[in-house]
Amino acid sequence: MKQQKRAGFSSSFGVLAATLGSAVGLGNIWKFPYLTGANGGAGFLLIYLLATLLVGLPVMIAEITLGRRAKVNPISTMEQLAPKGRPWWLVGVIGLVAAFLIVAFYSEVVGWVFAYIVKAIDGSILSSDRHVTEAAFASLISNPLQALLWQWGVLLFIGGILMLGVTKGIEAIAKKLMPLLFLLLLLLCAVSLSLEKAGEGLAFLFRPDFSKLSAAVVLTAMGLAFFKLSVGMGTMMTYGSYFRDDQDIPLTTLRVMAADLGVSMLAGIAIFPAVFTFGFAPSAGPSLVFITIPAVFSQIPMGQALMVVFFILAAVAATGAMLSLMEVPVVIFHERLGWSRRKATLVTMLSLAALGSVCALSNSTLAGFTLFNLNMFDLFDFVSSNIFLPVGGIAIALFAGWAWGKDNFRQAISNQGRLRNGTLANVLLFLLRYISPVLILLVMLKGLQVF
Ligand code: TRP
Repeated sequence: MKQQKRAGFSSSFGVLAATLGSAVGLGNIWKFPYLTGANGGAGFLLIYLLATLLVGLPVMIAEITLGRRAKVNPISTMEQLAPKGRPWWLVGVIGLVAAFLIVAFYSEVVGWVFAYIVKAIDGSILSSDRHVTEAAFASLISNPLQALLWQWGVLLFIGGILMLGVTKGIEAIAKKLMPLLFLLLLLLCAVSLSLEKAGEGLAFLFRPDFSKLSAAVVLTAMGLAFFKLSVGMGTMMTYGSYFRDDQDIPLTTLRVMAADLGVSMLAGIAIFPAVFTFGFAPSAGPSLVFITIPAVFSQIPMGQALMVVFFILAAVAATGAMLSLMEVPVVIFHERLGWSRRKATLVTMLSLAALGSVCALSNSTLAGFTLFNLNMFDLFDFVSSNIFLPVGGIAIALFAGWAWGKDNFRQAISNQGRLRNGTLANVLLFLLRYISPVLILLVMLKGLQVF
């Protein structure tokens, strides 16, 4: 292949913004609140925190470190760093498949978010009557044409940014969107905390009740930890390949994790007090954001404007995450097949539009089409978070901890000895070797009811 200078993130803030942009997404604004709501609040939150620290964080550091070492797409990264003839490149292939499965359903939800910005502006979802907001949501998702067009519009929008490249597309957008995200979120929290029953909502979020915990719930919490930090499918490996050589990887990762957690907590603080104040159930599930939230907001002074803000916020968060998800196939096609970045992006967009349609239509034309009792939307979500990401996570932990070699890991993570983080490297190696893979495997098998 041609030896060109490979693009990358140009500044330290750019690295942070882009990586945080990947982590922050519908995972914080949509998944985290509804999973926490449906699984009993603070007890779930605690397990999620443990999974993040013991599993998500070490795997994320490992992924970024591997990616930066090889400076190439995930398949080639694994191929280059692995001992000759060992099939570790399959990890990259699994990641590519996972990327397609995730974007297929994720882009549909992003489509709903964009549609809801319009609906919030024109007022059609503005009603305190849950039946009205329910009907509005149902009419959006059960209309094949609308569902498809919003999804395809999203794919086109993200593809357009990706065509601008890593520095001028991904990094430049992330630097603008991340500060905006925090601003909007703080505004919504201030409003929510001023409501009458704010205390009840906060108690739900922060006072643990362990009666709802089960193996399946623990698996869900771990799946969320992976999904949240964008680990297990080569996204972080890809972004790692754009990291600067002088970037402190553990420190950056820690900051991203903390900020991501902060966004989830703030989203919870923005949502639950409002939900309790107006007497709605926190356990509504995936529709919490699309049915409950509009009904809640329509009862707050300036609610319509705030609802517009809320869905813009969700769209902002989703944009950074979508960019990172689609970048994986783009860079793989670009570097492995020698296609131009433009062609790679175009093919990614088109194939995702095809596969995504299966999810977009799962509430209308294809509603009767189910496997294991799940429609395609739910199946893709379940299989990617609870099987593909954990399997990818185990493989990455084992590779970084055992196959790659301790010294290579220590060297790479300390920027060739320039950072004094030997003790931290040892702790990480211990986690990657003995703790993360075992925990992931146990939780996965138990959650899937293998034993
Ligand atoms: N982390 C993002 C979110 O919370 C989603 C995401 C982006 C992702 N890239 C990923 C999930 C890679 C898994 C793997 O919404």
